[in-house]
Amino acid sequence: MNTKWKLFLIATLAFPAQQVLSQDWMVPSDHTALTNPSEYNLENIKKGKELYTRNCQSCHGDPGKNNPLALLPLPVDIASERMHANSEGDLFYKITTGRGVMPPFESTISENERWKLINFIMNFKPGGNQLLVDAPPVKVKLLASVNENKSTVEILAEREDAESTGLENAPVIISAKKTFGNIELGRAITNENGRAEFTIPENVIGDEEGYVSIVVSMGDGYDAHEVALEKAKVGKNKVVPRLIKGEVLWSTNNNIQLWLLLSYISAAGGAWLVIGYAIYQIIKIKKLSKSS
Ligand code: HEC
Repeated sequence: MNTKWKLFLIATLAFPAQQVLSQDWMVPSDHTALTNPSEYNLENIKKGKELYTRNCQSCHGDPGKNNPLALLPLPVDIASERMHANSEGDLFYKITTGRGVMPPFESTISENERWKLINFIMNFKPGGNQLLVDAPPVKVKLLASVNENKSTVEILAEREDAESTGLENAPVIISAKKTFGNIELGRAITNENGRAEFTIPENVIGDEEGYVSIVVSMGDGYDAHEVALEKAKVGKNKVVPRLIKGEVLWSTNNNIQLWLLLSYISAAGGAWLVIGYAIYQIIKIKKLSKSS
C-alpha cells in the first residue's frame, strides 16, 4: 500500500471518532421546538430526582458539584450552563437517543418519565426558579449484614429523628475494603421499608481464603455512620504465589537436592578462589615493585 492510501485510510477511520468528540450534538429542529408536557412542579421534580438517582447520577454526578465519572467526553453536570444551553426538546432528544458512552433511554425510561427527568434538570437552570432545594443532610441509622449463602448484603436504613421509620428511596453504597482505600462494588436503593438487598458480584476477589471486608455507606445528602462488615466469605480466593515450598532451594537446607548443593558450593567456592588468586597476585606485584 502506498503512503497516500495509508493517509487516506487513517483520515477516514479517525474522522468519525473526532467528530463525535468535538462536534456539537445536533438535534433535529422539530425536536428542539418540543415543549415539556409534564408540568414544572415539586412533585414532578421529585419524581425526576428519583429517576436521576437511579439512572444518571453514576455518570453525571451530583447536580452542581461537577463530579462526573471520568469518561470521554465528560458527562455534563446537569446544573451547568452547557446543559442548559439545550432546550427541553433538545434534552428530550439527547436522553432518548444517547450518543457514544451516553446510553439511549428510549426503551428503558418511558416518555412520560423522561419528561419528568427534564423537570428535575430544569430545577437547576442557572437563574431559574428552583423549587427543590437541597435540604440539610438527613441523619440515618444504617444497619447491614452479609448473607454468605446468598452472597448478598442486606441493608436497613432508618431515619434517626423519627422512631424507627424506614427511609425510602435512599442511595446506599456498597464497597470492598482494600489495603489502599475502598473499592465501590455498586449501589442499591432502599424500598418503602428502608430495606435494600445488594448482590455481591461474583468476580470480587477476597483474601487467600476468599474473605472480603464489606463497607456500607450512604450517598450524598445523608449523614450516617458507615457499617464495616469484617471478613465475609463472599469473594473468590486470591491466588498468592508461595515462595516457601519444600522443593524450593532457598526454603530450607533439609530439602535441598545433592546436585544443587554441590553445584552451588563449587560455583561459590570457585568465585572465592578467583578473588583469592587476584589478591595474591596484587601482593606479589607490590613486593616486586618494592624490591626493585
Ligand atoms: C454511562 C454513563 C452515562 C449515563 C448512565 C448517563 N449519561 Fe448522559 N452523558 C454521558 C456522556 C459521556 C455524555 C456526553 C456525550 C457526548 O457529548 O457525546 C452525556 C451527555 C448527556 C446529555 C447531553 C449534554 C449536552 O452536551 O448537551 C444529556 C442531556 C444527558 N447526558 C442526560 C442524561 C440523563 C438524563 C441520564 C439518565 C437518564 C444520563 N444522561 C445517563 C454519560 C452518561
